[in-house]
Amino acid sequence: MSTPLYDALRALAARDTARFHMPGHKGVSAGGFPFSIDYTETYGTGNLYEDEGPIMHAERAAAQTYHADDCLFLTGGSTQGVLTLLAAACRTGGEVLLDRNCHRSVCHALALLDLTPHFIQTEPDPVYGFCRPLTAAQAAAALDAHPACRAFFLTSPNYYGVRQPLREIAAVCRARGVPLLVDCAHGAHFPALGLPTPVEEGAAACVMSAHKTLPALGQAALILSDGTLDHRELRESSRLFGTTSPSYPILASIDCARDWLEQTDWNPVAEAARALHEHLYASTPFFPLTERDYAIDPTRLTICTLGTDLSGYEMADRLYQEYNIAVEMADSRNIVCILTPFDLDGNLDRLTRALDELSLTAAGRLLPDPLPPLPAPRAACSVRQAWFAPRETMPLDRAIGRVCARPVTPYPPGVPIVLPGEEITAEHVVFLQKICYNEDCEVVK
Ligand SMILES: Cc1ncc(COP(=O)(O)O)c(C=O)c1O
Repeated sequence: MSTPLYDALRALAARDTARFHMPGHKGVSAGGFPFSIDYTETYGTGNLYEDEGPIMHAERAAAQTYHADDCLFLTGGSTQGVLTLLAAACRTGGEVLLDRNCHRSVCHALALLDLTPHFIQTEPDPVYGFCRPLTAAQAAAALDAHPACRAFFLTSPNYYGVRQPLREIAAVCRARGVPLLVDCAHGAHFPALGLPTPVEEGAAACVMSAHKTLPALGQAALILSDGTLDHRELRESSRLFGTTSPSYPILASIDCARDWLEQTDWNPVAEAARALHEHLYASTPFFPLTERDYAIDPTRLTICTLGTDLSGYEMADRLYQEYNIAVEMADSRNIVCILTPFDLDGNLDRLTRALDELSLTAAGRLLPDPLPPLPAPRAACSVRQAWFAPRETMPLDRAIGRVCARPVTPYPPGVPIVLPGEEITAEHVVFLQKICYNEDCEVVK
């Protein structure tokens, strides 16, 4: 086991030092919490933002595991990573090319950095409803249409596990001298499946949430990069959006998760997921998303309920209420489960039995109309202007023709349908009603 940061913290904890420093728990396990290794900068732990000590060694070990030139640990989730990447690559006030599938943290970056987004919107998949992956030709056309863009920012995999053809898109970006940045929040486990990271596929940098798929604490995330973006610029940008008291247990949990990842074979769980796909296809009315549909992360289980009388929300609810099974997320037509090797110990069998039972009571239903395509975004002002303008709250259907002030974001998956600065149209309202989103929205006064 090689975990330099975790080892340094445990050695400190073992010294029985009188801890006249924060955090206030002083390492005492009050209420059962394991506070003993909860340090921030102190003797021998180094400073997250200074490239030193065991954190730096732990980051280097992670860079090796992920076959990247460089790695930075983060304690603010992929949210901090998204802000960091866009600040380092675009600075302020420039243009950036984005897929419309991006997480709401991208919208926060646009507001904070005053970036002008140019979105590429692909058509929705008629069954699962998410936007299809881009093609390299679409990426090339968009880059040629917007030559001033300082970066191309893509999400891969998406919440449903669908991966973009990054190798081809990276080649297109490289030919034009534009750095490809990838939100890979859901892909921190890829090396254990033999899947390439975005940086291995040619991206300049990517962010991953260690806490989403690895045994790491909430907010644990990392940035991988290939050296295209200046290391100090990335580090400084992460400091800009991070706390000055980063949690070392969070950082050490990345260290331990990386070590665990090196020693853990995820192929059995991928095989179990594939077997479940086949079983659901053969024996139930549910449609699992499979490698026949798209290039996917085989451990992300997306099951579509179209064609039955259950919505994704209802299926998630019944799994929880009747079977004590909690899914990662549901939307109007899908449930999504995150599978890891820990689920081989009974969880997957329970899920299979529950889905079998649900399939017996799920009545068939005519397929609904496909989701209407989303209208092309019409920006009335910048994201930043709209975000910081005076605003008011109103029901969605009264907001037609108004300028959106806060992202209209069904959560999860956290992908904004209307961004600040864009006009809310009747088509948006129809689309949002179709996916059962009914919340009030905030508009510019
Ligand atoms: C695609 C994507 N990117 C970024 C994030 C933000 O990640 P974090 O919660 O680690 O800040 C999420 C969160 O769900 C996400 O789904």
